[in-house]
Amino acid sequence: RGKRAFIAGIADDNGYGWAIAKSLAAAGAEILVGTWVPALNIFETSLRRGKFDQSRVLPDGSLMEIAKVYPLDAVFDSPEDVPEDVKTNKRYAGSSKWTVSEVAESVKQDFGTIDILVHSLANGPEVSKPLSETSRKGYLAAITASSYSFISLLKHFLPIMNPGGATISLTYIASERIIPGYGGGMSSAKAALESDTKVLAFEAGRKHKVRVNTISAGPLGSRAAKAIGFIDMMINYSLENAPLQKELYAEEVGNTAAFLASPLASAITGATVYVDNGLNAMGVGV
Ligand code: NAI
Repeated sequence: RGKRAFIAGIADDNGYGWAIAKSLAAAGAEILVGTWVPALNIFETSLRRGKFDQSRVLPDGSLMEIAKVYPLDAVFDSPEDVPEDVKTNKRYAGSSKWTVSEVAESVKQDFGTIDILVHSLANGPEVSKPLSETSRKGYLAAITASSYSFISLLKHFLPIMNPGGATISLTYIASERIIPGYGGGMSSAKAALESDTKVLAFEAGRKHKVRVNTISAGPLGSRAAKAIGFIDMMINYSLENAPLQKELYAEEVGNTAAFLASPLASAITGATVYVDNGLNAMGVGV
């Protein structure tokens, strides 16, 4: 039987989530996607109209199929958590069952079980503010969207994950080294995500034989990264200073995710795996 993957955090064909979906599809996995509710309409319309067809091409020439797209907002666990203004918001009112527990329930009803869970989402409303100028509200928003969202997904999907399954999230080296510009508590959120990767690896491993890893990815000009505003500078910095002076392709992160989700990585859990052309190993820029 082929494996089934649920990938949370795809809304276009530019980000790491899309690249991971492609690598998993190329390896034979069935692909389910969770798309942020406000972005759902345009993503589904673009898919339907063939806007992504060129980027759907797999190495064997076939097109990646997405078995189903689920609306998802990973900052809400169940309908009781959703405030009135979000419920009645035009961009949310057209969709239903998009809290984490409801999405897991829908996937269970539609497909029964999954083997691979991917968390490729983050949000920090005050990311452009230095940490020392970040509001409490902005800091907590970064944590709930970028860190707790993984705990919530794991919690609700673990019961439908097959033993031997694997989960993967995406992190950034700003968690452990100073990256000015990655503010708003986003550096803190990634530090939490990496620490949680270890604790959750223990809990999910003991209870469900599921592995939990995170990929520390180098800079990519995704939609989310462009919103931060300094991505071109980070890409150039990496080109100049990393051991491998080449562009970092989203596909390289996708292929690492496919490896980590496969039996080839059956003894790897609780790990932060760098896919960054080696930039993390440098002590000074040269
Ligand atoms: P992206 O824009 O393709 O992906 C982020 C996704 O998160 C978007 O689809 C957005 O709709 C979704 N999202 C935001 N809030 C959400 C919520 N509450 N519920 C559900 N979905 C929500 O951008 P990218 O850069 O590929 O981001 C994917 C992951 O990779 C993130 O965790 C990011 O921090 C991480 N990463 C990105 C790097 C980069 O340079 N682009 C470097 C290292 C890590």
